[in-house]
Amino acid sequence: MAGRGLRFLRRGRLVEIEAFDPHTTILDWLRLEEGATGTKEGCAEGDCGACTVILARHHSGQLVYHPVNACIHLLGQLDGAELITIEDLAQGAMLHPVQEALVSHHASQCGFCTPGVVMSLFALYHQEGPVDRAKAQAALSGNLCRCTGYRPILDAAVSVCAGERLDRFTETEPVSLQVLAALDDEEDVFVGDAQRFFAAPRSEAMLSALIERFPEARLVAGATDVGLWITKELRILPQVIWLGRVRSLGQIVQGVDRLVLGASVPLAEAIPYLSRLDPDFESLMQRFGSEQIRHVGTIGGNLANASPVGDLAPALIAMGAVLELVKAGEARALPLQDFFKAYGQQDRQAGEYVRAVHIPRLSEGMHFRALKISKRFDDDISSVTGAFCVTLEHGLIAEARLAYGGMAGIAKRASHAEAFLKGQPIGSAATWKQAADRLTEDFSPLSDHRASAHYRMQAARGILIKALAEIAGLPAASTRIHPRMATDLEPQGGGPDV
Ligand SMILES: Cc1cc2nc3c(=O)[nH]c(=O)nc-3n(C[C@H](O)[C@H](O)[C@H](O)COP(=O)(O)OP(=O)(O)OC[C@H]3O[C@@H](n4cnc5c(N)ncnc54)[C@H](O)[C@@H]3O)c2cc1C
Ligand code: FES
Ligand code: FES
Repeated sequence: MAGRGLRFLRRGRLVEIEAFDPHTTILDWLRLEEGATGTKEGCAEGDCGACTVILARHHSGQLVYHPVNACIHLLGQLDGAELITIEDLAQGAMLHPVQEALVSHHASQCGFCTPGVVMSLFALYHQEGPVDRAKAQAALSGNLCRCTGYRPILDAAVSVCAGERLDRFTETEPVSLQVLAALDDEEDVFVGDAQRFFAAPRSEAMLSALIERFPEARLVAGATDVGLWITKELRILPQVIWLGRVRSLGQIVQGVDRLVLGASVPLAEAIPYLSRLDPDFESLMQRFGSEQIRHVGTIGGNLANASPVGDLAPALIAMGAVLELVKAGEARALPLQDFFKAYGQQDRQAGEYVRAVHIPRLSEGMHFRALKISKRFDDDISSVTGAFCVTLEHGLIAEARLAYGGMAGIAKRASHAEAFLKGQPIGSAATWKQAADRLTEDFSPLSDHRASAHYRMQAARGILIKALAEIAGLPAASTRIHPRMATDLEPQGGGPDV
């Protein structure tokens, strides 16, 4: 297969690599090849943030700085980006303003987490808009510190972002933008040979050709799942096809009656669009992983991995979403709820990939709620996620779509509870409880390290009652710690109506 080598920007120079192991992570490349050991390895599974680095990219004419977990990000995924690490911030003895703030607020003790904290705050420093404590906390949702304590770190974050945010990166931004825009070319990437390769096609035509020729190759989008197979299960991935350069898979189309999200749209980019479908998407997505995970993890990856505890599947099943699957150029539509067959088994043929998900907008009388229960607020996989779409007509429930994650081997609808609710008055507390009782007919959840079966069932009951009570008109203030979010997020771009 033809294609150019890997190209990215590092410390002001263009790095071109013609040979590398397809499953090499950025962290291994930095520490073992480049000898840049400032970036640390803690958990090696995207949880602690010690390995955080920045990828700067050209995006819709702007330079964006995204924090990424180098431990689970593949070297090949650097194509077209600038890699910025902790070594690049200080200039001689002159610290970067973020580093200076951490020093003056005594925000580091053992220092193991510090490079990752600095890089997450570097990304925050380069974001637009004022930074308060909540925003700083969100920016650090993927960074654990075991000894300093978060107060001084947050103090440093808020104070450094309060002033004018200028550093040598902002000064050289026009040049970086030009270079990165040039790297964002139309060529396919192919490094290796037929046995062992990293490929990054530019078009779906080339993607289909690669899949046909190499049916065993592993598709990789953000690698926030696949990365862990490498670092935790020590799996060797000899043939990798990265979807990050296929333009059409990154498209977002806002239609009158539906939102269409391309499979490779990163979760963070999708949030403003999803939040406009219903504010609960914003609350749900803010609980999805961390900043580092949301910037690279994708919509398609979250659905295609078919995890029983994935957060998007129940929410999108409740919305009545439809998957667009493609094999050898032929597309088919499949309701998302039918995609998940059994644990680890999906209605996806060999060689078929997810192109997009179509999410209908709520119509008159439809009410949506999505609620996630997990042990930690940030960066934690759910014990139970429930998503509910209820259509009301004259105070009666005309239709209810109740979907759960964490209650079975797949994300699944609660058909007994749904059937019970049909025709019932929404305003009756007895109705809410009786619907919750039906959940035992729908699910026999498992006990595992996240939650016991009993806990899961109680949580599933609780969130259903809470959602129905809110839809009936009980003020959210009496059911939630944070009110339902009224989104002020502005989507970037977005395509034409469909
Ligand atoms: C620290 C951490 C926190 C996390 N928190 C959450 C959380 O809160 N909620 C949650 O739901 N998940 C969570 N995850 C899991 C993961 O981040 C998500 O599932 C993410 O959306 C996966 O997307 P990806 O692009 O990284 O997938 P990848 O890892 O690239 O791929 C996952 C699977 O999907 C396949 N695939 C990807 N794209 C396609 C496509 N277009 N067509 C066909 N197959 C495809 C791949 O071959 C692979 O089998 C977390 C993961 C980590 C490491
Ligand atoms: S080493 Fe912990 S997130 Fe990468
Ligand atoms: S300073 Fe020790 S872990 Fe944060």
